[in-house]
Amino acid sequence: MVVRRNVDVKLEELKEKKAQSRAGGGRQRIDAQHERGKLTARERIDLLLDEGSFEELDTFKLHRGTDFGLAEQHHLGDAVVTGYGHVNGRLTFVFSQDFTVMGGSLSEAVSQKICKVMDLATNSGAPIVGLIDSGGARIQEGVQSLAAYADIFLRNVRSSGVIPQISVILGPAAGGATYSPALTDFVFMVEGIGQMYITGPDVIKSVTGEEVTHEELGGAGSHSTQSGVAHFAIESEERCLSEVRRLLGFLAQNNMEDPPRLQSGDDPGRTDATLAHLVPDHPNQPYEMLDIITRVVDDAEFMQVHEAYARNVMVGFARMDGRSVGIVAQQPSFLAGVLDINASVKAARFVRFCDAFNIPIVTFIDVPGFLPGTNQEYGGIIRHGAKLIFAYAEATVPKISVLIRKAYGGAYIVMSSKGLRGDINYAWPTGEIAVMGAEGAVNIIHRQEIRKSDEPDEARQRLIGEYEDQLMNPYIAAGLGLIDDVIDPSETRPKIIKALEMLQNKRESLPPKKHGSIPL
Ligand code: HXC
Repeated sequence: MVVRRNVDVKLEELKEKKAQSRAGGGRQRIDAQHERGKLTARERIDLLLDEGSFEELDTFKLHRGTDFGLAEQHHLGDAVVTGYGHVNGRLTFVFSQDFTVMGGSLSEAVSQKICKVMDLATNSGAPIVGLIDSGGARIQEGVQSLAAYADIFLRNVRSSGVIPQISVILGPAAGGATYSPALTDFVFMVEGIGQMYITGPDVIKSVTGEEVTHEELGGAGSHSTQSGVAHFAIESEERCLSEVRRLLGFLAQNNMEDPPRLQSGDDPGRTDATLAHLVPDHPNQPYEMLDIITRVVDDAEFMQVHEAYARNVMVGFARMDGRSVGIVAQQPSFLAGVLDINASVKAARFVRFCDAFNIPIVTFIDVPGFLPGTNQEYGGIIRHGAKLIFAYAEATVPKISVLIRKAYGGAYIVMSSKGLRGDINYAWPTGEIAVMGAEGAVNIIHRQEIRKSDEPDEARQRLIGEYEDQLMNPYIAAGLGLIDDVIDPSETRPKIIKALEMLQNKRESLPPKKHGSIPL
């Protein structure tokens, strides 16, 4: 005879099990997590998602390890909390590693939970956010847990360019475990608690003798300024997760959709007479490109990506008449806005992301060229600069550019030029397109004349003046159709908005191929 238990008893049992699962590694470990200045996996999810929207999956999933005392360490749900919810009302998947359960280490079961939400996210065309706080592969599970990482990497790659993938580093991410975040589109790190490295300080000391702290080696500061691994370094978990929400607001849910259009109170026809006077008369005098960008976009809101890395180029998201745009712009106040290896790679990656997710690209140009020097040449500026050409040439989203001041040499071609299928290329009257700056050019093409002159300095200045008058203006390029119009700077905003509107149904495709061979 089957004995049926009362439904109320079953409900009570369910409640208890859910409470057990929610308790993670227990009160003591939760307290320890808080003492480290860190939030728990669930507290983080609550901050990331719209209130009350979280639907948890695999609450009862258990690891299957038996060796090294694993049989005695069973936590319902194991070391990760997974599920879905909403960010500003839009479906978003999430996994949040629970450091209170075996240091958030990755067992086969943890990986299966993560892979399940990754698959659901891809199949339902919604972004996924990974909250990382883990001691890496679960040591006791050995190769099983290494193989389990491979399952995640594979999904990161297959979903790349299909749904936005975001990683938030809120604790350790060591060894191969760093590679899942590295495969995603954006990496956020929280200062003081997020750390990523392939090998920790102890191994480094024993191999090279070098002494370095965890934070110096793999903290948010290092990765947001030196390595470029982190796109965002943020001082607190609360603000970090709110910035993740903000970023998602600019993005399409997947590669088949357009980004959401928001109502903006900012008049699309708004002109700004101050713009023209932001550019100094002297070509080598720096100025703040941010002042131009924030005056042109909706409500002065510009969310910079990689803000502290390769600052000579700026990339980030803004809106124009409510439409998301990706902005790429030189920063003349840092290294004169020159294109070097890091700037090329930074901008190329951003352009490719925008292209994958249907975000039009608006480029503000003031570039003196590629950075000369053995450092750059030996480091491969040729192949890295080529990445940016590749990215712009390949991008089929609307591409609009505004030449603010300089566009010299190869850097002119790279920055969304007509030749790379720029759709609309505007120039301010201060724009200059040339093979090189006047001084360098005169020293080469008039070398003999200057040498023979009784007053070489005077002759040089006169020839520079002539060169500037004849070549350093946007009208030659406009005469050739390489610039679509020379515009009054005050009208930059309405001009870009009209171009975006005109291009909103742009359709362009590349020849059929498996994939290109970008010079990596
Ligand atoms: C199993 C682990 C673990 C792991 C931590 N724990 N890491 N259990 N596997 N990888 C457990 C600890 O035993 C401890 O359990 C609890 O989690 C908390 O860890 P603590 O060491 O007490 O915390 P803390 O002092 O804050 O140090 C955190 C840490 C350290 C820096 C992450 O635990 C650490 O160095 N762990 C090992 C990191 C590592 O080398 N992982 C392998 C990386 S290689 P108790 O019960 O004592 O509280 C890798 C390969 C991936 O991941 C390859 C992919 C291709």
